[in-house]
Amino acid sequence: MSQKPILIAQISDLHIKAPGDLAYGKVDTAQALERCVATLNAFAPRPDLVVISGDLADTPTEQEYAHLARLLAPLQLPFVVVPGNHDSRELMRTCLPQPLFPAEGALNQLQPVGDIDIVLLDSSVHGQPHGELDAETLQWLDAVLSSSDQRPALLFLHHPPFRAGIWHMDRQNLRNAAEFATIVERYPWVRLVGAGHVHRATLALFAGVPATICPAPNHAVALDLGELLEPSFRVEPPAFHLHAWNAGDEFGELVTHIVPIGTFDGPHPFLGPDGRLL
Ligand SMILES: [Fe+2]
Ligand SMILES: [Fe+2]
Repeated sequence: MSQKPILIAQISDLHIKAPGDLAYGKVDTAQALERCVATLNAFAPRPDLVVISGDLADTPTEQEYAHLARLLAPLQLPFVVVPGNHDSRELMRTCLPQPLFPAEGALNQLQPVGDIDIVLLDSSVHGQPHGELDAETLQWLDAVLSSSDQRPALLFLHHPPFRAGIWHMDRQNLRNAAEFATIVERYPWVRLVGAGHVHRATLALFAGVPATICPAPNHAVALDLGELLEPSFRVEPPAFHLHAWNAGDEFGELVTHIVPIGTFDGPHPFLGPDGRLL
């Protein structure tokens, strides 16, 4: 594997509030994003792109997006964004304008990075917690994948198209996952479906493709796999995903890493000056 991998960092569910406000009265999401930005800036080798997969704001308001823009200003990497259920397409257009945003409708975007395509799908439904890919989005996806000359494609959307096993999140996942699957199945060059929304690292298989949920830089939805437990969150170790595309063999290979956010002891060498294990 001689070529440098293409590195796509994915962060998700920032839930930025107005300055000084805490999410659910508990979580300082702004401070969590500051730590996340510092970890991304320090990461070597430098990621090629950061994908922010929804729930950028919290309620949402103009003030929240202005706060988010200030918090993202120190990020030294290019980034793209797609809305989640806590976002507003129209406020994102006006307060966080991005060059790839279409002028109207869903904020679907195509961002080529080297030899691969990053495809952002807007699954937000105005005023609703669940997700859905509207007819235009599905047609757009089909057109992008059919005309891409089989370039490897990583698809990102906020709502997972599968059940994570946490009942109160599963009832607000992607409603029309079956329609989405019929498109994904047609194009074997789709190599990842990357979601957010659940605030925890999760791996599944969807339409024959690896499908992930990205952990959050702040709070995690509690891993309550039982029935009818009260919806709750925990402040667990924060993290993001790093998707590494290696084009070194015939088909290419995607590897997803979970990167903890923060500063940690090390690095320490395994080997001493004599080349032997310490
Ligand atoms: Fe979220
Ligand atoms: Fe969400």
